[in-house]
Amino acid sequence: MSRTLLLPLLFAGASLASWQSLGIPTSRTGATLSVKAFNIGNLTIGGTATVVHPVLPGRETTTVPMFGFLLERTIGTGPSAKTYQYVWDLGIRKDPENAVPPVAELFKAFPGALDEPKDITELLVAGGVKLESIEQVFWSHAHLDHIGDMSKFPNSTGLVIGAATNTTPYPANPASQLQPSDFAGHTLSKVDFTTSKLLINNLRAVDYFNDGSFYLLDTPGHIAGHMTGLARVSTSPPSFVLLAGDTAHQIGAVRPRPLLQKHFPCPAHVLADARAHVSTDFFWSSGSKLGQFDLLTRSEQMLDLADVPGGLYADQPTAVVSLDKVALFDADPDVFVVIAHDVSLLGAMPVFPQTLNGWKKGGLKERTVWRFLQPDNPAFIFSPV
Ligand SMILES: *[C@@H]1O[C@H](CO)[C@@H](O)[C@H](O)[C@H]1NC(C)=O
Ligand SMILES: *[C@@H]1O[C@H](CO)[C@@H](O)[C@H](O)[C@H]1NC(C)=O
Ligand SMILES: [Zn+2]
Repeated sequence: MSRTLLLPLLFAGASLASWQSLGIPTSRTGATLSVKAFNIGNLTIGGTATVVHPVLPGRETTTVPMFGFLLERTIGTGPSAKTYQYVWDLGIRKDPENAVPPVAELFKAFPGALDEPKDITELLVAGGVKLESIEQVFWSHAHLDHIGDMSKFPNSTGLVIGAATNTTPYPANPASQLQPSDFAGHTLSKVDFTTSKLLINNLRAVDYFNDGSFYLLDTPGHIAGHMTGLARVSTSPPSFVLLAGDTAHQIGAVRPRPLLQKHFPCPAHVLADARAHVSTDFFWSSGSKLGQFDLLTRSEQMLDLADVPGGLYADQPTAVVSLDKVALFDADPDVFVVIAHDVSLLGAMPVFPQTLNGWKKGGLKERTVWRFLQPDNPAFIFSPV
């Protein structure tokens, strides 16, 4: 074959869009999901050391948002179109004194841990969403800051959880943050990844609505049954939002990675900030010298997931495996990743009633992906204070 013939063939082979090379199926139906974020409240968590390593002096406590999402799926067009509504993660209930006793006691001991909480049902109703219209609630996992208060939803609202979730409530299961009122009256659907044949980004996946608009991904480690949601938010340009739950609690455990640096080159002002402010006593890179941190030659994420007694990752090695996959999504130009507690996104990510669907056209990822390394960003914990 002549050279001139071969070259176009090679280029054709290389033209697989990056989302396709991650294994996200091509849409058969063109169906998309509308995604609208809520910050349900700001939570001061037990300690940075339960989440990441290293923790620098003065960075021992962290306040994080709790993101929940309204998901809307429209079937049909024109006057016969019908929209179905779902919620992904509920944040914490506004009255933690009525949670299971160990949680209630924790919040009694740290009264400032929750800042003027609102129940997500209040936010939905205030936004004109009828709770009777919510078909199902998805819990990424069964922890207090994601399960909200299901008793506020009508019985007609179903509940979707990962099948590996331990649903034995407290006190029969003393480690559980669940109580019977979390389930009473609601139809429970368990997503079983063990029988699924679909793999996306080497994660077991379920095409939840069977139309390519929403994939549930098996991402254990933080707790058994933890799921991640991948929403197709646009077909032109092809783009996705990954609801990454608690696969990480600090975005510095996700970034930077070499592929991210390749697809989202760090702007000069952030490189300069990192050079001036990131501590080279704690963070190494081959190009750093004389106390000046060189981000370009940092070949791995800033932080590791905590692996300590009392840490938040029940199975830390498995959590690392899940997070490495999330990081591949994060490096992809077609996927916007939201971890449930990403404080770096506050004030930058559009929230309800705006949708996240236009994130790609709007350049949201370019604007937000490096914010965590700016010293005035609340996610910046890379220098002692
Ligand atoms: C969370 O904290 C941020 C930053 O301090 C603030 O802007 C926001 O209003 C708070 N949100 C809630 C729901 O408390
Ligand atoms: C909802 O379910 C609960 C628990 O099964 C039941 O006690 C209650 O009567 C139900 N409410 C309605 C309105 O059907
Ligand atoms: Zn959480």
